[in-house]
Amino acid sequence: MQEFKDRVAVITGGASGIGLGMAHSFAKRGMKLVIADLDAQALEKVVAEFEGAGVPVVGQLTDVSQLDQVQALADRAIDAFGQVNVLCNNAGVGIPTSARNMKLKDWKWIIDVDLWGPIYGINVFLPLIEQSGEGHVNSTSSMAGLIAAQMMGAYNVAKHGVVALMASTERELRAKESPITASVLCPGPINTNISTHSLQFRPGHVQAPAGGKKFGKMGSNIQAALEQGMDPDEVGEMVADAIRDDRFWILTHPRWAGTVQKQLDALREDQSLTQA
Ligand SMILES: NC(=O)c1ccc[n+]([C@@H]2O[C@H](COP(=O)([O-])OP(=O)(O)OC[C@H]3O[C@@H](n4cnc5c(N)ncnc54)[C@H](O)[C@@H]3O)[C@@H](O)[C@H]2O)c1
Repeated sequence: MQEFKDRVAVITGGASGIGLGMAHSFAKRGMKLVIADLDAQALEKVVAEFEGAGVPVVGQLTDVSQLDQVQALADRAIDAFGQVNVLCNNAGVGIPTSARNMKLKDWKWIIDVDLWGPIYGINVFLPLIEQSGEGHVNSTSSMAGLIAAQMMGAYNVAKHGVVALMASTERELRAKESPITASVLCPGPINTNISTHSLQFRPGHVQAPAGGKKFGKMGSNIQAALEQGMDPDEVGEMVADAIRDDRFWILTHPRWAGTVQKQLDALREDQSLTQA
């Protein structure tokens, strides 16, 4: 997409972390923002901040796992700005549990948010973006969309699905020589509040007692790795640059592509995954 100024971007999960980083970089480039999130307080706060900085913005409380709410988000965007040019399917959650032990209600929640969210997004927004004549669709997957590490079964399944969704979309857009382009973001560790938000939004969540442990052992290790991770504003810049340059793959930690190659080598050489 050549031009950002006055174009309209819809970002789900835009009130925190990577989505907020995207909102910052799009606003810097003169875009109008439609920010969707499930966290009403955070949404109100970021919308007020953008308004204070003179950025044209609306916020819409949205659960991306509900089609009617994604449709209402689209209606809000059209009411506010008359068109949509960029969609970032970014809202996501995850909890670390083995595929064997994860409760079915957690499987369903994670796949509903992380995979059905982007599917609803493409279904509702791509026709609108096509009507506007130029634009881009992006979804946030993960390195977990390219390599299935242990203890993240539902997240891996959803994020592999997101890579497949965006690869299919990209090939189909190219095949019909569409002016709309597509990309997939596969971040490594980024310093965000995903662990806390995921616990907060998990179905049936009960708040830990004051002073009690928030995360289990695995969760604490993941949290520590994320705290050492990349700044989400840096990721926002990468996404804007990739949209400008029409690049499909957005890897925040490209050196990790070597691990994906190792997995492909194991496939070609008929080795088990544990040997790779
Ligand atoms: N942080 C990382 O290291 C990392 C790595 C790879 C991929 N990701 C992906 O990046 C995306 C953004 O996550 P983040 O790390 O910025 O986390 P974050 O928690 O800081 O931001 C995610 C936002 O999504 C919102 N959200 C959660 N469920 C929602 C729902 N059902 N509908 C609408 N909004 C919802 C949350 O309120 C939050 O504001 C996610 O898809 C995540 O899987 C993150």
